Amino acid sequence: MKRRVVRRFKTGAAMAEYAAGLFKKALLGKPGKFTAALSGGGTPAGLFKVLSALPLPWRRVVFFMADERLAPLSSPESNFGTARARLFSKIKIPRPNLRPVNPGPGAAAAYARELLKETAGSGRLDFIFLGLGEDGHTASLFPGSPALKEDKKPVCAALAPHGAKVRRRVTLSLKTINKASTVVLMAAGPAKKKIFERALLRDKTIPAGLLNPRGEIYFLFSEKSRSLR
Ligand code: 6PG
Repeated sequence: MKRRVVRRFKTGAAMAEYAAGLFKKALLGKPGKFTAALSGGGTPAGLFKVLSALPLPWRRVVFFMADERLAPLSSPESNFGTARARLFSKIKIPRPNLRPVNPGPGAAAAYARELLKETAGSGRLDFIFLGLGEDGHTASLFPGSPALKEDKKPVCAALAPHGAKVRRRVTLSLKTINKASTVVLMAAGPAKKKIFERALLRDKTIPAGLLNPRGEIYFLFSEKSRSLR
């Protein structure tokens, strides 16, 4: 069922509790395997903390990354490395259920194969958490990125703008994100307020304005930012 929900919170902790509740509801509402993708950046830190304390059926969950910087898993820049430290290491989830991106050559194509294999060829994930950059990027879909128009490959190579610590990325394509059953976008802090509103208004000049999943999308905003990375 197609639904667009907007919620605003005073604090990041309240947003994290709400977002974790959405994940719990979706997971408990679907029997069998549950495929999810996590975003990087610092916003999900509060979410990971709440999720790691929930007694959920983690053995049914397979975690992908919505995007990844091509850096070693041990690097502080690695989104998987951050999720492992803050969530995966604190829950009872079988190691094969965790899907890091292998940062070697052909990383995007290899990850695409893994995603298609896990979703019986559909590329359709049950749940995707996304963040929002001040330029309106989400995952590693940056303004003008070819991955925004990618129609075939479910996972694409991407290049972050100059100045990013790790420019070479891998990202779910926009089409893959829009196939998901539930998408939860989280943004925090005054610096994200304007771009968040533009995303809500479906501003097509920014990647986040193109989010239009076949299922539910939740746009969550917390007035207070918290940076923890
Ligand atoms: C990444 C993310 C990216 C992130 C936004 C917001 O790899 O950087 O996936 O899309 O979600 O840049 O980052 P913050 O949460 O740190 O503001």
